[in-house]
Amino acid sequence: MTRNLLLFAILLMGGCRQPSAQPGTTPNPTPVTSTLRSVASFPVGAAINPSLLTGKPLYRQTLETEFSSITSENHLKMRQVHPEKDRYDWSGGNTIVDFANQTGKRMHGHALVWHQSVPDWVTQFKGDSLAWENLLRDHITTVVKQYKGKIASWDVVNEAFLDDGTLRPTLWLQNLGPGYMARSFQYARQADPAVKLFYNEYGQEYSAKKLAAVLAMVADFRKRNIPIDGVGLQMHTNIDHPDAQIENAIRQTAATGLLVHISELDVRVNQAKTANFSPTDALWQRQKAKYQAIATAYRTIVPPAQQHGITTWNVSDADSWIPSFCQCNDFPLPFDKDFKKKAAYDGFLTGLKP
Ligand code: GLA
Repeated sequence: MTRNLLLFAILLMGGCRQPSAQPGTTPNPTPVTSTLRSVASFPVGAAINPSLLTGKPLYRQTLETEFSSITSENHLKMRQVHPEKDRYDWSGGNTIVDFANQTGKRMHGHALVWHQSVPDWVTQFKGDSLAWENLLRDHITTVVKQYKGKIASWDVVNEAFLDDGTLRPTLWLQNLGPGYMARSFQYARQADPAVKLFYNEYGQEYSAKKLAAVLAMVADFRKRNIPIDGVGLQMHTNIDHPDAQIENAIRQTAATGLLVHISELDVRVNQAKTANFSPTDALWQRQKAKYQAIATAYRTIVPPAQQHGITTWNVSDADSWIPSFCQCNDFPLPFDKDFKKKAAYDGFLTGLKP
């Protein structure tokens, strides 16, 4: 047999494939590693911090591998980005925005108008309503223009309602009246006609009154042609929160026809806020189930064209805001402090998969 004929015979007999391990089984395929962003049909994001991004290699690596969208956790809030009347500080924001742009991730800006993280020069500001209006407009216009073309979507107004559905008595409301919200959206639209504009809020899943207030605001905006593209459901939640209420908030928000963003997801486990808390396996499993239920609800309830994505509020348990907020230890994110995937990660991944 010539060499060519021999090769032909080998090919006919199955070539050089690995033989089956056992009769009737197929060889193991090369393992394909699924990641959050590879299984989801919509963006999966994380809110991030520039010093962790530059200081912790595993943080950056996890973001690059697992996520397709980035939110600025704190560094585009007014206090950080506009510390003095005539001075903006873009350093932290630039680190985050550049990372998102350079790694091909969608960038979501957070947040232009909020009652917290307000710089002292604003809390101490004295002026008539025109001076306050100029302050608001200049801030929104400058920040949105700075990142025009680099930030795809913005939380324009954050947390303007109380849980009872009334307007939160913020310094913005007090100095500018209830119209400050609509005007903030108009200023943002004027500064960047292409950017998507969001109203972001917490608690729509537990307060029917707050949910109704947000929906009424959206309806009012649409009636008056005030620009708004989406609504954020922050979803700082816990293992006990009923799935049905979460589904209801998602369903009613999706019924607006706007984009829907689960914008700040984390799932607390330490419900009693005890010190030196260490979750049992049963609690890890409940956290896993909650991540899965939320991702499944979002994927199946929100029409694909309205899916802005799901964003977790930071990446690993070590980087979460929850422990300092509750003065207890908690473990609310899908990655543990060493960036190892938790059961919650598996639940999240399963829920994201179409
Ligand atoms: C709210 C804000 C976020 C963040 C969290 C917790 O949800 O929207 O910017 O501050 O609180 O830190």
